[in-house]
Amino acid sequence: MLLSVERINVAYGHARVLSDVSLNLDKGERVFVVGRNGAGKTTLLKTIAGFLTPTEGKISFAGETVNTLRAEQMANLGVRYVYQDKRVFTRLTVRENIQLAAFAGNEKLDVAIDRVVQIYPKISQFLDTKAGGLSGGQKQLLLLGRALIGDPKLLLIDEPTEGLAAGIIEEVFKVLEMLKGQVSMLIVEQNLAVVRELADRVYAMKEGKIPAHLTDKTDIRDNAVLERYL
Ligand SMILES: Nc1ncnc2c1ncn2[C@@H]1O[C@H](COP(=O)(O)OP(=O)(O)OP(=O)(O)O)[C@@H](O)[C@H]1O
Ligand SMILES: [Mg+2]
Repeated sequence: MLLSVERINVAYGHARVLSDVSLNLDKGERVFVVGRNGAGKTTLLKTIAGFLTPTEGKISFAGETVNTLRAEQMANLGVRYVYQDKRVFTRLTVRENIQLAAFAGNEKLDVAIDRVVQIYPKISQFLDTKAGGLSGGQKQLLLLGRALIGDPKLLLIDEPTEGLAAGIIEEVFKVLEMLKGQVSMLIVEQNLAVVRELADRVYAMKEGKIPAHLTDKTDIRDNAVLERYL
């Protein structure tokens, strides 16, 4: 087991957002979390990534208890969180954006650039462009490439296709497809076409709980089952 989340509670101040949430992920798996707006999906990923600390329960990663580790320590263990809001350093160039991640991931710049190029070859044309000028899809591909710097073990990807044009969704889809075998992934996604095609397993979230865990491909491909949670 690479990641195990056992009955965690998470709150913002006094407002409890996650109650008794459990999930797990084996090395090499691509697991999805679906659920309505406000269900707690981002909170779950941010907690695993170390930005939030559970008040109860246990999180283990690669055999180590990591409940109280901070985001930087989780990153050092090989966990990368890809933000929902496609957050790039808008005033820096694409190269400088990659450079910052290369520094944090302790990787040479040319190796880091190669990692991004590997999943998004066209990025080589934009290295000197200000990242703020990229389209949403281009930012997402940059962020996915950047998350691979330093050879992570687990990517936590928050709604990778949200708000993107149809053509570029296809490109993001192909990247998520291709990364299987290279890195384990826990992905929040509301686009059921993407979930159907790529999910090894699916957890459905509702109001801060996980009422369903789908492991059967027939259930995962049956929109009626997933739509109950959207
Ligand atoms: N920083 C915060 N402080 C207080 N409450 C918050 C904070 N962030 C989120 N919440 C609340 O926690 C709940 C879960 O939010 P979260 O962002 O985890 O949901 P989500 O499933 O990711 O939603 P979406 O699909 O809209 O991204 C919501 O009720 C939200 O209003
Ligand atoms: Mg969210």
